[in-house]
Amino acid sequence: MKTFIVGNWKMNFTVGESSLYLHKLLKRIKPAKNLEIAVAPSTIALQPLSLQTDRKKIKLAAQNFYFRDYGAYTGEVSISQLRSLVDYALVGHSERRYIFHETDKDIREKVAAAIRGGIRPILCIGETETERDFGETEGVLKDQLFGGLQDVSEEDLNKVIVAYEPVWAISSVKGAKLASPDDVQKSINIIRKHLAAKFGKEREEKIPVLYGGSVNPQNAEAYLTLDDVNGLLIGGASLIADQFDDIIEIAKKVTNK
Ligand code: 13P
Repeated sequence: MKTFIVGNWKMNFTVGESSLYLHKLLKRIKPAKNLEIAVAPSTIALQPLSLQTDRKKIKLAAQNFYFRDYGAYTGEVSISQLRSLVDYALVGHSERRYIFHETDKDIREKVAAAIRGGIRPILCIGETETERDFGETEGVLKDQLFGGLQDVSEEDLNKVIVAYEPVWAISSVKGAKLASPDDVQKSINIIRKHLAAKFGKEREEKIPVLYGGSVNPQNAEAYLTLDDVNGLLIGGASLIADQFDDIIEIAKKVTNK
């Protein structure tokens, strides 16, 4: 399976800055077999960046979209509008769940809409610190996983990518902590166990599971070498070319082992 390195730029960079930054990344990054690199800029930058990027090197991902195809939904952008611009779309990011109050139903509809539109959804799941303290991690991961995948047919499961992002380890969260490789391994095992129990081992093995939460060039290798981790979803460090590039180099090294 490919290794995925995905940069989530969140609400950073103007369109001009995004374009300059992509230019810089395209100059540095060399395509590598078995490595898929994508960045998720702000929605307004997707159109110009889609013309600028070399998809063999860097693909684009949407940070957000609405699940209806068109209609009276002021301010929203649909998958059909994004179709020619991006290959991937984040769904269920904790910032969408907790700041913008997206529900499990919204997330389920979005996963299904992305697949209908030919865009691979990156379904983000992860427990909050309180849920972790109360020993609810497994239940939360299971609920978010199956809540998000409920409307996905078994044949379409191989289009889904799952990203485990413990909310307490995301750098923008106040007092964020670093998840130890052991913490991450435990949760990845939980995710894979439930996927296999519900969909069968063969289908489960085709679903990439990424890790995200304060990933940087110092800790990337430890996360990437965990069993059944197929890549990284990176926030803060993806905004700094040197760091993003270093993480990509680490991924190349690990993937070619
Ligand atoms: P950080 O890498 O800044 O912790 O962000 C993680 C994230 O939320 C990526 O989607």
